[in-house]
Amino acid sequence: MRTKWYKDAVVYQIYPRSFCDSNGDGFGDIQGIISKLDYLKDLGINCVWLSPVYDSPQEDNGYDISNYKDIYPPFGTLKDFKQMLDEMHKRGIRLIMDLVVNHTSSQHPWFKDAISNPNSPYRDYYFIQKGKKNGKRPPNNWTSLFTGPAWERIKGTDDYYLHLFAKGQPDLNWDNPKVREEVKDILRFWLDMGVDGFRCDVITLISKEQPMKNDYSLFPLKGLNQYRYGPHLDEYLHELYADVYSHYDTMTVGETVMTSVEQGKKLVNENEEKLDMIFNFDNTDVDNHFGVKYFLKKFKLTNLKKVYSKWQHALYGTGWNSLFIENHDQRRSSGRFGTVSEGPLKEKSAKALAATYFLMRGTPFIYEGQEIGMTNHNFKSIDEYQDIEAKNIYNLMEKYKILKPFLSKAFRDTNRDNARTPMQWDDSEYAGFSKVKPWLKVNDNYKEINAKKAIEDSNSLYHFYQKLIKYRIGNKILKDGEYSDLLPNNNKIYASKMSSDDGEILVIANFTSKKQKCKLLPVDAKYKLVLTNEDRNEENYLYEYEVRVYEYKK
Ligand code: GLC
Repeated sequence: MRTKWYKDAVVYQIYPRSFCDSNGDGFGDIQGIISKLDYLKDLGINCVWLSPVYDSPQEDNGYDISNYKDIYPPFGTLKDFKQMLDEMHKRGIRLIMDLVVNHTSSQHPWFKDAISNPNSPYRDYYFIQKGKKNGKRPPNNWTSLFTGPAWERIKGTDDYYLHLFAKGQPDLNWDNPKVREEVKDILRFWLDMGVDGFRCDVITLISKEQPMKNDYSLFPLKGLNQYRYGPHLDEYLHELYADVYSHYDTMTVGETVMTSVEQGKKLVNENEEKLDMIFNFDNTDVDNHFGVKYFLKKFKLTNLKKVYSKWQHALYGTGWNSLFIENHDQRRSSGRFGTVSEGPLKEKSAKALAATYFLMRGTPFIYEGQEIGMTNHNFKSIDEYQDIEAKNIYNLMEKYKILKPFLSKAFRDTNRDNARTPMQWDDSEYAGFSKVKPWLKVNDNYKEINAKKAIEDSNSLYHFYQKLIKYRIGNKILKDGEYSDLLPNNNKIYASKMSSDDGEILVIANFTSKKQKCKLLPVDAKYKLVLTNEDRNEENYLYEYEVRVYEYKK
């Protein structure tokens, strides 16, 4: 049944509210996505990850679901969804949906019943507990990942409910077998319709240690150690696999939160039958301290190499990797990971990064707009922001002014709206995303950076991605090969090798804006140059941000 097709997939993530607005309400929708499927087909991807389109009050842009079996009306209808799925399949594109089941929306009928009716069968679907001191204090000192306490008092009672994210996102109690049956039912609903898999939102947080105790550690996120890889996580994930996924030809990718390599190995070990791959964030955490994005740290290429080596080696022979540099929660990669976000080397440096992260063992992901080099926004006032997390952090800085000097830069650099500005399709007003003012401001640089221009320029980043994707899909060396880092201590040049019984692939990239001598050059004559971002060629040198991909087929 299970063909593991995902090992030959290149996945494109669509953030639906920002992708394409077909009906002129300033908000992306399913018909808008359908109108752009030929664009995706031409790019060459063969799978889409769609961020949530379920019915939702949109407190966290759809990561708060009030009906798992219907579509949020501004996105369209179930009929539109089926049409999109069909149109994707016709083009050889599979679809994975976002599965958000660590929590529901507080507007979900289960939760509404649970808090309004003391005898509700749904009370045990959530974590509802008596507060301390006659309800004056929450049950414990846990804090939310979106700042503030993780408990909210239920109006008119002494009870509190747990929400690791926003107040509108109450956590589900996975220890209740009925909750797990509900999740399976949701999975089957979409799989039976023809959906090809799921990206499982914060899935490593679903099991909480019982009883939930005060956390006296110094780490600011209180409670984390009692839920980040909870006692029943392995068991619950396997249960979903055995009861559901194993009966379909699916792919699953789990979003993990501060997961160690040892834990990652357990999650994707093919013999343990849980998840096909995970997103760990060690690569996006290389420029911060302790995995906290607001504690910025200077980027060092060697640190990025360490992360990739660690995961590539750990999962070789055990399970499969995901490869990504952007998503809807991260700032744009333009100007990050050693690249530059402006000037003549902008695109060239993005190509060097693209080839570097794409050509390892794993399934590459591209986030919408990454392929044309979209950049962080330049919002001038807090009124332009929409993200709940960004607003919470901003309010915290306003409340505790002392935090401002430490957090302002991090706030600007790392806020999630950076990645969520509307897709830049062309140079018309609102970047061709919509005919009216969009829900989030378009980046001012849309006349320079847009898909139309990128397609017209045969030397653009877009065309480089097109070549990379074509090269990646079906490539046996990349699929079966073993990764090695050829220059682990070099802070200027990233050089990696993939080797398998079929041959070898070398990726050598200069991550500086100066010409660099490289001791690996010239390479042996058995290697053929298959891809580069540079017309010139010097025997022992790499030009600024030059990348060369060599292949040797046995
Ligand atoms: C994940 C999502 C993020 C969301 C959070 C809560 O991290 O990617 O966008 O806010 O989970 O669902």
